Amino acid sequence: MARQPEVLVIDQDPQGRFEVKQLVKQAQLGFAGEAGFGTEAVSLASEVTPDVIFCGMSSSPERSLRTIEALLDVLPETPIIAYARKETVEGVRQSMLAGARDFLIFPTSVERLIASIQSVLESEERKRLRLSGQSKALGPKGLVVTVFGAKGGVGKTTVATNLGVALASTLGQSVVLVDADHSFGDVADMLELSSDLSIVELVRDLDTLERGNVDDALLKHESGLRVLPAPRDALKWRGVTPDSVRAIVHLLASRFDIVLIDTAAMLSELSLAVLEEASVVLWVTSTDFSSINNSLSGFESLRQISYPDDRIRLVLNVTSSEDGVRPAKIEEVLKREFFWTVPYDNRVRVGSQIGKPAVLASPDSPGSKSLMELAKAVTGSGSTPGGSTVQKKGRSWPFRRKQVSSSAQVAEGG
Ligand SMILES: Nc1ncnc2c1ncn2[C@@H]1O[C@H](COP(=O)(O)OP(=O)(O)OP(=O)(O)O)[C@@H](O)[C@H]1O
Ligand SMILES: [Mg+2]
Repeated sequence: MARQPEVLVIDQDPQGRFEVKQLVKQAQLGFAGEAGFGTEAVSLASEVTPDVIFCGMSSSPERSLRTIEALLDVLPETPIIAYARKETVEGVRQSMLAGARDFLIFPTSVERLIASIQSVLESEERKRLRLSGQSKALGPKGLVVTVFGAKGGVGKTTVATNLGVALASTLGQSVVLVDADHSFGDVADMLELSSDLSIVELVRDLDTLERGNVDDALLKHESGLRVLPAPRDALKWRGVTPDSVRAIVHLLASRFDIVLIDTAAMLSELSLAVLEEASVVLWVTSTDFSSINNSLSGFESLRQISYPDDRIRLVLNVTSSEDGVRPAKIEEVLKREFFWTVPYDNRVRVGSQIGKPAVLASPDSPGSKSLMELAKAVTGSGSTPGGSTVQKKGRSWPFRRKQVSSSAQVAEGG
């Protein structure tokens, strides 16, 4: 951003205006002015032509909504961010219908405010490029893919690193892989990268980086993949809040085509933050009983917090050459179909152990091919678009024979 965006604040409540003004000041953004609703707002907006307008939603939202509509009549390209003190689904829906581009619940943080402004300005810029026919090179910018699994060792990091390398090298996307595994993240090890830089330093320097070059704060893999590693000392995660991780994801999504996120095998506050930020979740399970049972509990926990189920793509990753539970049985227990199946492949295992992802080291092995196709399917760059690339159950299943399990919940015929 060449200059700081100028922010106009519209709110009937002087206290609300004061709070936004304080945040705008802390964020070191330009302040274009303030006004109440109605004609006062519209004439000031046409006079100062701000980059972004913040509009407070009053308890009876009609005037706020009419003001949003009137502002868009005079400044159709200026993004409006609505805010309210208390979330009411109706207020969010109405402000969006009236044309607001984002919604903030107050009180909020400076990081959130900046992230919101950046994302609306970015999308405005993309819209402008689309309208002027210059958008060909944009690609699926800002796609956030979170790789999660409810059990350790199911292959989350293996999937995330191979996808990252596949997308960056072969598919030519700008991709950053964030290691949000706050237990013992090992993305850097699996890519044979080493540095003192980590997500902790990026959180610390977020303010500066939001205005400058993020690339300097990332590691560069030979494939072109950018990596934001976890700190080597896991205790350093203590300084990283879910909100700061969200702000990092927003920042990276505004600069990269794809943000891939590796996670810890637990539904912690940090994991929930990156699940909430995800456009798509690759939910990895192995054929282990505990992985399947934990997935079942995980889906139930997410259901209780009304997590949008349609973001979740279930991936079966076969991490052992030993037979496990039949895939059809796993689908039955989890009440969902596999989006993808990655076969057991010793090359994949060796690749992650020697720090050379299999898609690079042994691109022709079955596991690499599957991971490469998964990368295309997730980003919609496969030969058949979107969901039609889903592998159907049972096809080219690598098991030699079925096993009768002893678990009541996942046993065949159980
Ligand atoms: N498709 C596969 N075929 C063979 N081995 C695999 C496959 N996927 C993963 N592995 C192996 O399984 C092991 C666990 O993988 P990985 O570390 O990626 O799991 P994880 O879910 O990230 O674990 P953690 O929760 O501890 O971070 C590794 O040794 C990896 O090489
Ligand atoms: Mg891992």
